[in-house]
Amino acid sequence: MPMFEDYDLAKAVERQEKKNASTNNNPNGNDHTSGQSTGNTHPHVDPHSLPIPGDDDGPIEVPATRSSISEAAKYMHNLSVSPSQKERRGSRNSFGAALPIPRSKRQSRLSSVHYPDENEAIGRPTRPGMPPVQPSRAILASQVQSVEVEKVKKAKNMAFAFDIDGVLVHGDRLIPEGRRALEILNGDNELGLRIPHIFLTNGSGKPEKDRCEQLSRILQNPVNTEQFIQSHTPMSALAEYYNTVLVVGGEGYKCREVAELYGFKDIVVPNDIVAWDESIAPYRVFTEEERASSRPRDFSKVNIEAILVFSDSRDYATDMQIIMDVLRAENGRLRTLAKDPVSSRVPIYFSQGDLLCPTEHWQPRMSQGAFRIGLEAMYRALTGTDLERVVYGKPEMATYKYADEVLTSWMGQLHGEERLPENIYMIGDNPASDIVGGNMYGWNTCLVRTGVFQGGDNDENNPANFGVFPNVLEAVQAALRKQLGDDFKMHFDESINPVLHGDKAEAAAII
Ligand code: G3P
Ligand code: MG
Repeated sequence: MPMFEDYDLAKAVERQEKKNASTNNNPNGNDHTSGQSTGNTHPHVDPHSLPIPGDDDGPIEVPATRSSISEAAKYMHNLSVSPSQKERRGSRNSFGAALPIPRSKRQSRLSSVHYPDENEAIGRPTRPGMPPVQPSRAILASQVQSVEVEKVKKAKNMAFAFDIDGVLVHGDRLIPEGRRALEILNGDNELGLRIPHIFLTNGSGKPEKDRCEQLSRILQNPVNTEQFIQSHTPMSALAEYYNTVLVVGGEGYKCREVAELYGFKDIVVPNDIVAWDESIAPYRVFTEEERASSRPRDFSKVNIEAILVFSDSRDYATDMQIIMDVLRAENGRLRTLAKDPVSSRVPIYFSQGDLLCPTEHWQPRMSQGAFRIGLEAMYRALTGTDLERVVYGKPEMATYKYADEVLTSWMGQLHGEERLPENIYMIGDNPASDIVGGNMYGWNTCLVRTGVFQGGDNDENNPANFGVFPNVLEAVQAALRKQLGDDFKMHFDESINPVLHGDKAEAAAII
């Protein structure tokens, strides 16, 4: 970007005045010697047409014939750009369509119970070659729980929904307070009780089982697929609706694998199409390895029934071109162009709408929402009509409804009670997804300062109703104190004597 100093401005004024004077004195404009500088006063110079500093034989400035202001705003659905509570409250979802989610509990084919050692989970050393310490601890915990009946009841009537990126981790890096917060909820508390929590992330791009294993390692706490929802997890329901789908986004072929696990029958990815016709993506350098791993066929004979953007595109140019070709085709058949772009357009689904995502970089990076807005603007510019699309993920109601299903079922696994706790706390870093969604859904919302939110006391458009906290640990502790009392201890004392703990009469009854 050129920087203009006062000195440049003065020189520009001088040149402008010289030109004006020479134009006035000499209609041929060939005398550059006349005219005077007005010093610091330059009333007739238009600041918007400041000439580039430099010699008179430098670049020539040609006035623009089109507006310098972006045209994107008129092509975009502003609900997705600024989903303030006020704007969204009346909206069932982004544009009024239905978002299918799996009917009840999570499908068993997605399940894979992953329990790292429970002692490790709560930060206690294991004893190689020795019997695990867990049973005696479990007995002690159950004795304490039998004494603290009221507290246990309250603890079973609360739950947490954790956002992941910007709350528990940054990319692959642990946010240290996240580990401790989970240890407390996994039993390192005065009741020795596991307090229900689920993970509700707009993250995407790999099978749930793989991501849970990775998170378990990073967080050093168990993360079970039965308590885990990625942005595309509820999209498994779409497998019932479509046969041939174009799946976009993610590294390599991981999203194809996800779609297979979800039960989609005929999955196409952009590489399959490029391998069939490289000219479709003129800027793509297609490697031999990619060709070998792709599954080309004659796509001029295939009807792609829906487009599913599962994760962030790794190649905007190729993916946008192919998506646009499919959207503009006659019923998803490549090498055709629909006469009526609306009636023969195939549906397009995005797994989430976040504009930004916190990463290891010092500023959040653009996410799937930015990609979608680009597509919407391009589609509008190319066809003259708005792109109708479905966006899953937070803050969509469907995702929160699905979270209820998962939480209910997780309560069943944890406490043998398949019901929804009354006090649910959403802990997130992104006001426009975690907080707006949680608020709309009647949850308690906690905004943390370790991710996207970098504002003042609270977010202006979507304030967290339970408060803003420096990090996830402080949010969890505040919620536990609110529900279980200010004196609730965030540590399980193994030396405790249940007889002396709590009400003595109750304790005597269990001896
Ligand atoms: O926006 C991209 C995604 O990585 C955000 O994940 O866990 O913050 O919902 P999360
Ligand atoms: Mg986040």
